[in-house]
Amino acid sequence: KETKLWGGRFEESVTDIVEKFTESISFDKQLYKHDIMGSKAHASMLAQQGLISLSERDSILKGLDEIQRSIEAGEFVWRTDREDVHMNIEAALTDMVGEPAKKLHTARSRNDQVLTDFRLWCRDAIDSIVASIRNLQVALVKLALKNEGLIIPGYTHLQRAQPVLLQHLLLAFVEQLDRDAGRLLDCKARLNFSPLGACALAGTGLPIDRFMTSNALGFTAPMRNSIDAVSDRDFVLEFLSANSIIAVHLSRIGEEWVLWASEEFGFITPSDSVSTGSSIMPQKKNPDPMELVRGKSARVIGDLVTLLTLCKGLPLAYNRDLQEDKEPTFDSVKTVIGMLEVSAEFAQNITFNDERIRKALPAGYLDATTLADYLVKKGIPFRTSHDIVGRSVALCVSKNCQLQDLSLEDMRSLSPVFDNDVYEFLGVENAVKKFSSYGSTGLECVADQIGYWVAKLEIN
Ligand code: ARG
Repeated sequence: KETKLWGGRFEESVTDIVEKFTESISFDKQLYKHDIMGSKAHASMLAQQGLISLSERDSILKGLDEIQRSIEAGEFVWRTDREDVHMNIEAALTDMVGEPAKKLHTARSRNDQVLTDFRLWCRDAIDSIVASIRNLQVALVKLALKNEGLIIPGYTHLQRAQPVLLQHLLLAFVEQLDRDAGRLLDCKARLNFSPLGACALAGTGLPIDRFMTSNALGFTAPMRNSIDAVSDRDFVLEFLSANSIIAVHLSRIGEEWVLWASEEFGFITPSDSVSTGSSIMPQKKNPDPMELVRGKSARVIGDLVTLLTLCKGLPLAYNRDLQEDKEPTFDSVKTVIGMLEVSAEFAQNITFNDERIRKALPAGYLDATTLADYLVKKGIPFRTSHDIVGRSVALCVSKNCQLQDLSLEDMRSLSPVFDNDVYEFLGVENAVKKFSSYGSTGLECVADQIGYWVAKLEIN
């Protein structure tokens, strides 16, 4: 067996069971690019500070480039006995360039190294997720553009409430996703500080320049406190919290679309290309992608809970428990990106069933609140209007008709202020036209929203 990089004081090698249990190379090799980036910045800084020679720096940089090439070509052999990505790369570098490689770990610990890698990795992951969010927003706005003017029932308590433009409803999702992107970008700004040079926990007496490495790696500044730098994982907790909120938003879209695709609603028809069938029931066509979006939100939330639980009992500073921070993070990122991608795919492959929706609209007295507003405009206090319209609805229920079918006489029996102009407020088409408040489902308000998103997302 090869002696470990930390093997000096050890007389026995670790057992196979311990080696297998403690390794992280099987998953942290994903950090290789950021590990190499960090090592290159570190080596350049060591040379600038006179801690290694320029020629030592050059062999380190050249060796690291070669290692990156061989990893990307699939030639690099990851060794479990070398424990993690940091020691795999350092040991391979030593195999390759010899003595200079032994100076690379000067004024560095794996504790600050892993966090440098991880923060850089999260920074890139955030950019990828934000790009996927933008892509879904664009798909939703395009879906809205395709369905201009379509009115659908709006629900509260999953009971028919008021008529809304489909565009308005789709843009509600676009708004939610925009805050999701905002949360990620806030998180990115907060995590973008450099732990490198914090070393094990206390810093170092060697004359390093943490500002130089921070700059070279695109961090805003070095972290002020070395103990904090190696101890905390709040940046990942924040990241996974933001991911969990995204997942919950997507799960709600999933639920809505699964309902809409049901025979009972029948509002949308997903194309075959985004549906799957049943192994026993030949007639089935199921909206599985969106069901799985709903389902996978559980994983993303679970990943956050894993990390919260991981951190809650830890004393300062680094503890090996923290190695468990990576898999949930990788899983959360991969899952959220998949959910965003498939939701966009689904949005591009559904059609709204205008006919079916139009037939569904008359039921449920969606215009009742607009009728109450009519009475308010005639000077009736709202509470009284509410009661008058409530009694109008009861009359319709007994006559098995809609509000617009009531005769003026019928209505006047409930309030003398009803006039012929009342019919301009009744029926969903009329009702939608009456909305005018900022942010409402009124035609102009929604057109303004569409205009805002088309410009913001640069849709043409
Ligand atoms: N693989 C470790 C992790 O992910 C790297 C840091 C290990 N440090 C140590 N002293 N054992 O956390």
